[in-house]
Amino acid sequence: MRTQVAIIGAGPAGLLLSHLLARGGVESVVLETRSQDYVASRIRAGILEQSSVDLLTEVGLGDRLRAEGDEHRGIYLNFAGERHHLDFVDLTGRTVWVYGQTEVQKDLVAAGTADVRYEVTDVALHDVETDRPYVTYIDSAGATQRLDAEVIAGCDGSFGPSRQAVPAEHFERVYPYSWLGILADVAPSTDELIYAWHQNGFALHSMRSPTVSRLYLQVPNGTDPASWSDERIWEELATRLGHGQDGWKLNPGPITDKSVLPMRSYVQTPMRHGRVFLAGDAAHIVPPTGAKGLNLAIADVTLLSQALVAMLRSGDPALADAYSDDALRRVWRCTHFSWWMTTMLHTSGDPFDAQLQLSQLRWVTTSSAGATGLAENYAGLPIGF
Ligand code: APR
Ligand code: PHB
Repeated sequence: MRTQVAIIGAGPAGLLLSHLLARGGVESVVLETRSQDYVASRIRAGILEQSSVDLLTEVGLGDRLRAEGDEHRGIYLNFAGERHHLDFVDLTGRTVWVYGQTEVQKDLVAAGTADVRYEVTDVALHDVETDRPYVTYIDSAGATQRLDAEVIAGCDGSFGPSRQAVPAEHFERVYPYSWLGILADVAPSTDELIYAWHQNGFALHSMRSPTVSRLYLQVPNGTDPASWSDERIWEELATRLGHGQDGWKLNPGPITDKSVLPMRSYVQTPMRHGRVFLAGDAAHIVPPTGAKGLNLAIADVTLLSQALVAMLRSGDPALADAYSDDALRRVWRCTHFSWWMTTMLHTSGDPFDAQLQLSQLRWVTTSSAGATGLAENYAGLPIGF
């Protein structure tokens, strides 16, 4: 089989890339190890930056998002028994949207533009330093296949084979804590997200819809989610998020999912080697604080699709040659921001660190310069800034 771009991975990066390439008149085939149902039902992040929403709208994927998503003006920061609102619209003129990655994934599948081969195994990249690279794999019926292409796009997350095909330098930070995340069938107790610093540890109140809440607690690495009963989770969330503070109440409800997420920052540079281009989690991981992972994947594939359309349709390699540097500018900005949000909000037990964190939180909630810096990064810089 032959195509122009062989895309490995049908997460949001791979599917959106295929959609954008099709709009630019470039063919692609997507290879995915998991089943379509599995990919569509994974619980992932839930916040879209303004520029991600604008991009999805521009390429015909914004209808359900705009009808069912929830546009937020900002976030709350809770610390030292007080809640502070940061209004991104006043500060930067930009908003964010609550719309789950799962929903973005469903919209991409419903668009039907990507030719995806699900449940493949043994995916391997070959001849990536030539202009005739190819991918071999075993299809869902057990037959060995070869996919010839002009370019391979590695969108296969942090455990896929594409990353290994790019000789690169790695930068990594592992954090000494994890998140215990829950989904609950209960209306959110807040109109916008609450990020809470508390001496017991960080907590976050997020949401998925008017009837589904998503909440997180900082827990030690290696925590078994089963060791936290539902009662204990709600009690600890209430303590850390400020239940009772100025009459605010956290409403508990039935927990439908409980899991522990490790926290890691990782960047691989460059994001290209020969005819392999990496995008999304295949090239970088951010800790979830600040919700940058999905937005970064969207920004990467926007740049990559423009580069590949110019290269494959007009024979102009300039954007493709610049892709890694262009994408990495934003990757490092988001890597810094998510590290900064993470280290400002998670407690380590060190009293000196705690005082620095509180001082920083006071600064971002009382100085317009401090607040604007957070807001600009959170609501997101324009793609290709
Ligand atoms: N062959 C084919 N597909 C593979 C392989 C492989 N060997 N290994 C992994 N994959 C698939 C995974 O099953 C997954 O569906 O690649 C896909 C990668 O998708 P994601 O992990 O969702 O990564 P990405 O598309 O880059 O999206 C980034 O998703 O998980 C969040 O934090 C992440 O929000 C960020 C966004
Ligand atoms: C989420 O809703 O899952 C979420 C929101 C904001 C974050 C992290 C995760 O910073």
